[in-house]
Amino acid sequence: MILLTGATGKTAMAAATAIAVAGHKARVVTRDAAKASQLAALGHEIAVGDLSDLQFLKDAMRGIDRAFLLLPNTEQQGNMEARFTDTAKASGVRHLVKISSIEAHAGIGARVPEMHAASEAYVKASGLEWTMVKPNFFMQTLLAAANGVKARGELTMPVGGARISMVDCRDAGAVIAKVLLEPGHEGQSYKLTGSESVTFVEIATRLSRIIDKPVKFVDPPLAAYRENLLKALPDPWRVEAVCEIFATTAKGQREIEAITDTFQELLGRSPIGLDTFLSDYKKAFS
Ligand SMILES: NC(=O)c1ccc[n+]([C@@H]2O[C@H](COP(=O)([O-])OP(=O)(O)OC[C@H]3O[C@@H](n4cnc5c(N)ncnc54)[C@H](OP(=O)(O)O)[C@@H]3O)[C@@H](O)[C@H]2O)c1
Repeated sequence: MILLTGATGKTAMAAATAIAVAGHKARVVTRDAAKASQLAALGHEIAVGDLSDLQFLKDAMRGIDRAFLLLPNTEQQGNMEARFTDTAKASGVRHLVKISSIEAHAGIGARVPEMHAASEAYVKASGLEWTMVKPNFFMQTLLAAANGVKARGELTMPVGGARISMVDCRDAGAVIAKVLLEPGHEGQSYKLTGSESVTFVEIATRLSRIIDKPVKFVDPPLAAYRENLLKALPDPWRVEAVCEIFATTAKGQREIEAITDTFQELLGRSPIGLDTFLSDYKKAFS
């Protein structure tokens, strides 16, 4: 049986849907049963609990041979991922699939990709079979700027002139489902990107056309962006983590600019394009 964590969230919900469409069932984890109605309707078994609770983790792993690990970015993420890995190993799980990120490197200067790099190494050293799913920036990250687009016609993110081959997290979910459902992906790291690499000036131009309203890209000083973010996010660790990612992005990185064929090779279709993403989420921006 498959264990799917993060399944009420953006990426693993897409994986849970693809798994159900393929005629399979998974055990899906949520801390809040009320959020799981869509997953239950898909036929999945719902396990209600917190992954920081070791006894819940052990119970959730019972009878599982393939597990997908996704946790949101918090100060505890690295430790929780190590404990998830240890418990999977002790429970007889065969294959662990982990979401990481395309820029996961030690020493990159941003705590989240550094944590993912350390967590990847931990999983690889565990003796479990593993697959790393390593998406570039999710297109859905743009939704964080949607209110500014609505209110002022401004797409505000401190990324400078960076060019990014963003990927839709629904595509990442499709890859996760495929990797969990069929053999042959063990020992692979899949770097997922979209099919084009664009600047935020270009994104603003596209968005403008799609929502039929002028949108301009605003690249605020990082300090001002941080100050605003602190008003919206109660967790200063998270605010710093987000700002570090933007700071490394603004410097420009070959890895996040490059386009990979991985999605096309795995799924046999093109990844979701930026225009399709913007049209699908048009309501959020207008
Ligand atoms: N954003 C990007 O551009 C990007 C790019 C590459 C990789 N990533 C990685 O993708 C991951 C985030 O994926 P996402 O955006 O799909 O997540 P998301 O939408 O924020 O969903 C987070 C999920 O985690 C669950 N969760 C949170 N804390 C939990 C806990 N203590 N115990 C059990 N479940 C818990 C939530 O479930 P409940 O609330 O229902 O319990 C929810 O389903 C991160 O690891 C991030 O580094 C992100």
